[in-house]
Amino acid sequence: MKFNIIKLPKVKSTNNYAQQQIENKALKEGDVIFTINQEEGRGHGDNRWESEPGKNLQISIILEPHMIEASNQFILTQIVSLAITDLIRKNIRDKKLKHEVRIKWPNDIYVGDFKIAGILFQNFIKRNKIEYSVVGIGINVNQNRFFSSAPNPISLIQASNKSINITKLLKKLLNNIGTNYEKYTFEGNYTELKTSYINNLYRYNVRSNYSDITGAFMGQIVDIDQYGRLIIRLDNGTEKKYDFKEIKFRHYPTTN
Ligand code: BTN
Repeated sequence: MKFNIIKLPKVKSTNNYAQQQIENKALKEGDVIFTINQEEGRGHGDNRWESEPGKNLQISIILEPHMIEASNQFILTQIVSLAITDLIRKNIRDKKLKHEVRIKWPNDIYVGDFKIAGILFQNFIKRNKIEYSVVGIGINVNQNRFFSSAPNPISLIQASNKSINITKLLKKLLNNIGTNYEKYTFEGNYTELKTSYINNLYRYNVRSNYSDITGAFMGQIVDIDQYGRLIIRLDNGTEKKYDFKEIKFRHYPTTN
């Protein structure tokens, strides 16, 4: 897949910019809005995405995945999360840490218990198909200190002790995404995709502490369903399904 990088010296939010340009019919599949100076980056919900000017990678990719049914939107989440996971892993030298690069469901990328990258998808559905998707990706690269209220940020420089060229990193990221996108959407090999995603999940098959509207509980992630809902097996053997925001990952898992 061919990408066309549109570099902006600064912008409030690459996702918002992409959205406006799509409304003006000025963007197409493969266009990538790229900046190293995002002034009002958006996270999930009302969250902000913190980024010190010049230090990190922020992009929004325009995709037109007409072949994906609306009910299979989670395919895109898996494709992009795996592409970023691979990229981060390749940029960390320490073997133990490499192994700790994982996808925190649904689409945060973690190193150990720390968040190194986030993805903000905006999918537009028409007649049960994805008309287009704005895939916003923020990767913490060369930032050494974080000031926002984000609970657990980490950057590549903190995880690997070396500064990284952001333009080169972007090329590799797009290469990873393009390869996965072609492989999985055109070949439709969703089973292999899901297996890779599950095998890279943070806390997969590890008994851990969670909470939902009923309170805190112990359980373990055992699967995701077709819609990307998380399936957790409780200690008594029953399984519960969660949509995004219906479950919280609690820290400090207990042994009882
Ligand atoms: C999250 O984990 O909360 C999602 C973070 C997404 C941040 C990226 S940075 C590039 C793109 N433009 C935005 O305004 N947000 C996304």
